[in-house]
Amino acid sequence: MGEREDLIRMAEEYLVTSIVERLEPVVVDRAENDVVIDMDGRKYVDFFAGIAVVNAGHVNEKVVNAAIEQAKKLVHACTYVYHVPPTIKLAKRLAEIVPGRNMKKTFFSNSGAEAIECAMKVARKFTKKHELIALTHSFHGRTIGTLSITGQWKRKRLDMGPYMPAVSFTPSPYCYRCPFGKQYPDCDFECARYLNNVIDYTTSNNVAALIMEPLQGEGGIIPIPKEYAKIVREILDERDILLIDDEVQTGFGRTGKMFGVEHLDIEPDIVTMAKGIADGFPIAACTTRAEVADSFEPGDHLSTFGGNPVSAAAALANIEFMEEENLPKQAEEKGNYVMKALRDMMSEIKLIGDVRGRGLMIGVELVRDRESKEPAVSEAKRVRQLMREKGYLIGVGGAVGSVLRLQPPLTVTYEHIDGALEALEESLKEVS
Ligand SMILES: Cc1ncc(COP(=O)(O)O)c(C=O)c1O
Repeated sequence: MGEREDLIRMAEEYLVTSIVERLEPVVVDRAENDVVIDMDGRKYVDFFAGIAVVNAGHVNEKVVNAAIEQAKKLVHACTYVYHVPPTIKLAKRLAEIVPGRNMKKTFFSNSGAEAIECAMKVARKFTKKHELIALTHSFHGRTIGTLSITGQWKRKRLDMGPYMPAVSFTPSPYCYRCPFGKQYPDCDFECARYLNNVIDYTTSNNVAALIMEPLQGEGGIIPIPKEYAKIVREILDERDILLIDDEVQTGFGRTGKMFGVEHLDIEPDIVTMAKGIADGFPIAACTTRAEVADSFEPGDHLSTFGGNPVSAAAALANIEFMEEENLPKQAEEKGNYVMKALRDMMSEIKLIGDVRGRGLMIGVELVRDRESKEPAVSEAKRVRQLMREKGYLIGVGGAVGSVLRLQPPLTVTYEHIDGALEALEESLKEVS
């Protein structure tokens, strides 16, 4: 047996993987920009970027060098015992770039879910209220706390409850399958106004915050329309409720702006980040204005590894690289190119029900029939498998798993984009 087969057998035996669905494993040896390379030397174009993480490309030289230089000096010093220079500098940088109401102070942790745990706690502490509202197609993580505010119950929660009480859900603006049977944009945004009912009839009017992704990722690439965001923000202001903007997946150029909320013309009170912040080095952030952050008293919230200096140095270099190369703009242009090509395919390929997204956060919803919109779940899985056989890694998501997810590094080359589009067209035709 070769080393690759040995590793696959060992992974089965020793790793708690909980992989969603088993395909022939890609045993990754190394990666470069938009390509991952298997142990056998087989190359795959990475159209999923480690689930929207390596926005600046795999093994980005500038980011990796910054991490190496920092690792030679200091790998760990707990940020609640010491002052750590790259961590302090990163907090200042975030205060400069994170959109919102006087964003100033950051708490660092290691993963998206932890950033959101921080946001929930600080919102409760500041407002002295305890209830939370999330959107029906949301995804905020896999801890008990973040699953409690994740709307996709069937797919994500399963049998591990009970979850946190005092959480209500308001409708996502899933325009392709409008819960009110309306058509965007002549719909008057009943889904947004419905938030008033949710507050009045499913809470005790003790709501600390509403949490929202500016473009829902795991829920099936559902962009929040500007009008929806505006109405929601107004209702929250009238009722003295904070807005937590979950930028874990949309942050750092992914949607064609540095942060997804910049498409919406609203200002959040708290912003959570992870994934794209350090191009693969683990670090997460929860940023808010000083007055909210200062409601935490000493000892209220801590993380041993949070704000790790190597990851913080990587994040600083990553942000600099993004600005130098104008990666948000690249994402916008490449994303428009991909979405146009996909929409052009729709006339011939009836399996495509909807193409949507912003920048390089693109969803292709598959349906068996455009009238009934029956979700094409097994077809989506088959397309992903065919793409893998052709050397392209893509994702599948959505409430029932019928949405293809295209989220490559923002540095993806046009040559690889064209290759992926061709492979996708072939795969869709084969499955149709
Ligand atoms: C919007 C959003 N929030 C939170 C999370 C959880 O992040 P993590 O897996 O780093 O805990 C994710 C992960 O996919 C996400 O997409």
